[in-house]
Amino acid sequence: MNEKILRATAAALMADHKGLLAMDESNPTCNKRFAALGIPQTPDTRRAWRELIVMTPGLADSISGAILYDETIRQSTRAGMPFAQALVERGIILGIKVDAGAKVLAGHPGEEVTEGLDGLRERLVGYAALGARFAKWRGVIAIGDGLPSKACMTANAHALARYAALCQEAGLVPIVEPEVLMTGPHTQQRSAEVTAQVLHEVFEQLHLQGVLLEGMLLKPNMVLPGLDCADQSDVDKIADATVNLFMRAVPAAVPGIAFLSGGQSAELASARLNAMNLRFTGRLPWALTYSFSRAIQQPALDIWRGDAANVQKAQRALQHRAACNRAARRGEYTPSMEHVAST
Ligand code: 13P
Repeated sequence: MNEKILRATAAALMADHKGLLAMDESNPTCNKRFAALGIPQTPDTRRAWRELIVMTPGLADSISGAILYDETIRQSTRAGMPFAQALVERGIILGIKVDAGAKVLAGHPGEEVTEGLDGLRERLVGYAALGARFAKWRGVIAIGDGLPSKACMTANAHALARYAALCQEAGLVPIVEPEVLMTGPHTQQRSAEVTAQVLHEVFEQLHLQGVLLEGMLLKPNMVLPGLDCADQSDVDKIADATVNLFMRAVPAAVPGIAFLSGGQSAELASARLNAMNLRFTGRLPWALTYSFSRAIQQPALDIWRGDAANVQKAQRALQHRAACNRAARRGEYTPSMEHVAST
């Protein structure tokens, strides 16, 4: 393991108050988002959407690293420039999703475990040759009646740690993503209990596998009530619950925590991240930033809808969301920033 390279990449991803852009939706997930807007679901429309994102003017002002999907890392702009090259030339560090998706966990109805460890060592070598310097693996934990089981949490934490160790062996910074889902009527308190349990499992397994904490990043959920919970906590309460929990569960050696958005609206995700950075200024041991997919992409996708005539307007919306989140990382986001949104 080359500790120096891992530490340097992790530090570069967290530098300058920037954050990450997840543009690594698998083909089925990307197609689902396209279908909802009537956009044709083909390799070329997926390519066109990713080109719009990669070529957004000013993207690198707020985005330090972009996470791609296997299809995208092999695609090029219409003019023939590989996306990987276009991103690197813009000063954006290249990342790659390497898990093979969440599959039904045998014997545990309603629960899943993420697969993809077989052959991962060889795949990582291939991705590094394509320019990737960091990777992502997402484990999914559902809250429900009697869920999550210990079996589900342990199986996902184990896979995350095995993946992280393999990444570090290959010189790639692992983004460790245990996502406790927002789906359901559970309370914020229940989300806090489960998120704490999951984080304890994950860091135990990372320790067991010898993962260098200084050379990884954590990508967790915020501590939120379920989407169907009647009591939707206010922004400050969410910020306090989230940061207080992470202070107990995440070692200070981890350089950064980059949240997923998980189905929150784009504006709420910015406001909540902002409140965390504002209320805990000077007290955080790690960088607190974003690694959003939907909360950065969705407003732009709603504008684009597969129509070339909408590209520039969609790019302005994307750039705006990225800038709002960079402001949130500094505790300088205000809802009034939304009124100067793209026209
Ligand atoms: P969302 O921000 O849409 O939750 O996606 C983040 C992500 O990368 C999920 O793996």
